[in-house]
Amino acid sequence: MAAVQEHIHYALPSVADSPSEIERCAAFLRSSQALFSLLSTRLTRLLTRIPRLDMMHIAIRGYMHGRLSFAPLEEMDAPPQRILELGCGSGAWAIQAAEELPAAHVVAVDLSPFPDRPVPSNFEFIQLDITKELPFNPHSFDIVHSRFVFGHVAKPRETLARIASLVAPRGFLLLEDFDSESLLWTSPPAAARFTELYVAMYREHDQEPDIGRNLKQIMENLDGFGSPAHEHKAAVPLGVQLDDYNDAMRAFARGMRNTDIHAAGLLIARQGGNYGFTDDVLEAYLSAVNTADYAAIFDVYFCWARRTAL
Ligand SMILES: C[S@@+](CC[C@H](N)C(=O)[O-])C[C@H]1O[C@@H](n2cnc3c(N)ncnc32)[C@H](O)[C@@H]1O
Repeated sequence: MAAVQEHIHYALPSVADSPSEIERCAAFLRSSQALFSLLSTRLTRLLTRIPRLDMMHIAIRGYMHGRLSFAPLEEMDAPPQRILELGCGSGAWAIQAAEELPAAHVVAVDLSPFPDRPVPSNFEFIQLDITKELPFNPHSFDIVHSRFVFGHVAKPRETLARIASLVAPRGFLLLEDFDSESLLWTSPPAAARFTELYVAMYREHDQEPDIGRNLKQIMENLDGFGSPAHEHKAAVPLGVQLDDYNDAMRAFARGMRNTDIHAAGLLIARQGGNYGFTDDVLEAYLSAVNTADYAAIFDVYFCWARRTAL
């Protein structure tokens, strides 16, 4: 655990020149580290995921120049009335959607409880498991959005087929996810070993840690989404050398480095040696990602498709 704390201390100063909002999140993360070893996994997850996910949202919002999506939402026939966010986490995206589209009712759902935070009046949270039957009518949302969720869900294609039916005619399905296997090809061996174990653990549970790179094709095969789906791929550098990148990618990269390394540290610490996540793997991973020339690339895919008219 001490190694994880030290490692996160190292990772966070790279946001020091970022907006104060990120610094505030980072300070909270730093101070929360000391509590980890005393708390249950569930409580730790609840306490740490909120600032971590807000920090990631801020980074992605910067990369997207403030937009909610790369999809041409402005081409919708009418302003959206109902928006659904699946696996909303801290609610950051759904809250932004509710603020920017006050005429819409935004429903955010997640397996975990929603944090105690102020929300706009057109925002509603429902705690539920998206792999189960959902309490919504078919075609009842103009926009359905989900980010970094289906890479964690068992048998994600089955759930995706069901949730696609919720999108209204001419409505948008927005799916954003990572390809963790991209780290296998671009990391130094010690860090790649961590990714190998992570990927193997996920596959053992019928999860698809590389789902990002398959999303476009999956979306094109969904019932009612006959037209081509679209994809924006971001190859995000996770190292600290970002001189060759523009401001938008630097914002994204810093946010992803901090949240990804933080999540990896927690994941390893929680496994207690299971799935091969031994102390040796942890030490090797931490020293690899904390070298100045660490240059792994994490592929993130932003995909969208539009349902055809009925
Ligand atoms: C990596 S977080 C992403 C959160 C948010 N979408 C974001 O981009 O900040 C994944 C989220 O998916 C949620 N999640 C995972 N499996 C779920 C399920 N079966 N049903 C509902 N939510 C789920 C988790 O609780 C977590 O909040």
